[in-house]
Amino acid sequence: MVVQRFFQVFPSPVLRTIVLNVFAKVFSHEALQSYLPKIQQVIQESLRVWSSNPEPINVYRESQRLSFSMAVRVLLGFRVSEEEMKHLFSTFQDFVDNLFSLPIDLPFSGYRKGIRARDTLQKSIEKAILDKPLSQGKDYSDALDVLMESAKENGTELTMQELKESTIELIFAAFATTASASTSLIMQLLRHPQVLERLRDELRTRGLLHNGRLCPESELRLDTVVSLRYLDCVIKEVLRLFTPVSGAYRTAMQTFELDGVQIPKGWSVMYSIRDTHDTSSVFKDVDAFDPDRFSQERGEDKEGRFHYLPFGGGVRSCLGKQLATLFLRLLAIELASTSRFELATRNFPRMITVPVVHPVDGLKVKFYGLDSNQNEIMAKTEELLGATV
Ligand code: HEM
Repeated sequence: MVVQRFFQVFPSPVLRTIVLNVFAKVFSHEALQSYLPKIQQVIQESLRVWSSNPEPINVYRESQRLSFSMAVRVLLGFRVSEEEMKHLFSTFQDFVDNLFSLPIDLPFSGYRKGIRARDTLQKSIEKAILDKPLSQGKDYSDALDVLMESAKENGTELTMQELKESTIELIFAAFATTASASTSLIMQLLRHPQVLERLRDELRTRGLLHNGRLCPESELRLDTVVSLRYLDCVIKEVLRLFTPVSGAYRTAMQTFELDGVQIPKGWSVMYSIRDTHDTSSVFKDVDAFDPDRFSQERGEDKEGRFHYLPFGGGVRSCLGKQLATLFLRLLAIELASTSRFELATRNFPRMITVPVVHPVDGLKVKFYGLDSNQNEIMAKTEELLGATV
């Protein structure tokens, strides 16, 4: 669905080529390295706010806010104040909540609310685009700069309307999926304290975690983050068991037969990512949360091309995959090094899958951060942090 919505904005082949070029530049190794400290900062700010809240937080709602900030500040390079960010987020929420309303244009109808939210959002985005500092000439400053530059290179000037719409589509693609995966990650770390402890061990072994804190002198480098093997396995396993997007659509280019059923040319076909993960024979004990299945020794995902596809497959697979996995890795590192957190309800909530996978009550968790409670927690040992989750 994300795919179809996203590319309605870029219907012509020229514009689609532009978009593919944009993503190749926006997510190059060099570009990701330059985003890393910005993403880390956005995550650290959120964790500080979560831990200074005396009440448990709704993890899914807060992860949506966090992914939204990441998309707006890092991906689009908007410089917006906290107040503007709050306003943008609540308008975006109204837009998304009413996205699938019946098209009945009556006062107080979901449709009317959605249209109003879209118009307000577009006005705010137009202002943010106009206020945006000019790019410094680097080809990876952020997605919006690159989008505008690439359009020019291809002899096309994007209209303000096209820019606003593509901006909203980008935020949409990044926000719901990343929020879903962040929530599932936090839930799995709560359910499996031994996994969190192994993550901390890996950070300690690599000299990144000392006395319960991320070593300030060891600035995180992309190469280091990517080389953390156990962290990689944890993120992969979260995305296997709680794949945010259920599936995607394709059009049959020619008539073919699948399991004795003929699919005519031109038909729309949906492939299910969730069913693939649930039924694939390569995954042993398919319902268990077992990050080691992705270890070098076991490498269950390496047994075929299309058994593991949280980001889809083929030419239309997710274009934000590197950014999403970098974000999730950094979130896990920050959670393992600067946070103590506990489930605030008696039981873990049930998961629902629409529009993306998320816990039915949003997941209520109490965070106690090192920063918000420095005096209290600094006195505690790493051992205690490990034991409490
Ligand atoms: C954990 C987070 C994410 C997951 C699980 C995810 C998953 C997906 C999936 C399953 C698709 C459809 C692929 C297909 O049709 O086979 C997709 C498409 C897409 N995603 Fe993501 N995504 C995530 C994050 C992001 C982010 C952060 C961005 C933006 C930077 C993004 C941008 C896109 C775009 C532009 C497409 C359309 C690709 C095309 O049609 O060629 N995604 N994503």
